[in-house]
Amino acid sequence: MVEQLIIANWKMNPPTLREAEKLFFDVWSEVRKIRKTEVVICPPFLWLDSIYKRYKKALVLGAQDVFWQTTGAYTGEISPPMLKSAGAKYVIIGHSERRRILGESDEVINKKVKAAIKGGLVPVVAVGEEMKESQEVVPPVIAGQLQKALAGLPKSQIENVVIAYEPVWAIGTGQADTADNATRRAIYVRKILAKMIGVSRAEKVPILYGGSVTAKNAPSFISRDIRGMDGLLVGRASLDAKEFAQIVRAVVNHSRV
Ligand code: PGA
Repeated sequence: MVEQLIIANWKMNPPTLREAEKLFFDVWSEVRKIRKTEVVICPPFLWLDSIYKRYKKALVLGAQDVFWQTTGAYTGEISPPMLKSAGAKYVIIGHSERRRILGESDEVINKKVKAAIKGGLVPVVAVGEEMKESQEVVPPVIAGQLQKALAGLPKSQIENVVIAYEPVWAIGTGQADTADNATRRAIYVRKILAKMIGVSRAEKVPILYGGSVTAKNAPSFISRDIRGMDGLLVGRASLDAKEFAQIVRAVVNHSRV
């Protein structure tokens, strides 16, 4: 059984296929012996298919976005069946960069989540507050984003999604959230899920932390006595194969027993 999930979000990097293949190979060389932890690489769309064809099932693949229609006149968009045929198992939906820079609304995110599930992909739904607020108060925006992203889905489908809690102020800033705070948020997210789908189904949903994860801070997010995060979503640090591998190993070594 997979116990932890670590997702590399390469964002719009690296600039060439050659570099992408090299990075993928370097990461694979470092983490290929790891068990019980699913390591997922999300390259840009353009490199996904080539990496899949060249390395087949070396590591699990994911995409960084998806459109909600399967085919048709939607210039520039990529559909769930396209991602499936390019080897993707997961797809990140609602990343804060897409919400903020491309104006993606909760309604759009909901459509994408539904389409991803229908197309046989596992959505990694990203939620998180914009501003750093009091560490004691759990921002209500998280509940709103979650409920809207998952609206209209049957409980049996919600239990198969992944939730990534990513405080926007921590993404790409070098200022990660504290492990205590992130754990509190993870517990809160699971509570909201429990209200929506019941406790036992909510228990099945992996909750990840993302936002300036490094090899140094990674263990603190996982080594908890209570159930908090089940893994990490890593941006910048995933572009360095050695550092990313250190993150993976740190998570494996510090996971709950
Ligand atoms: P970061 O990005 O690790 O560079 O902060 C995380 C993310 O955006 O998923």
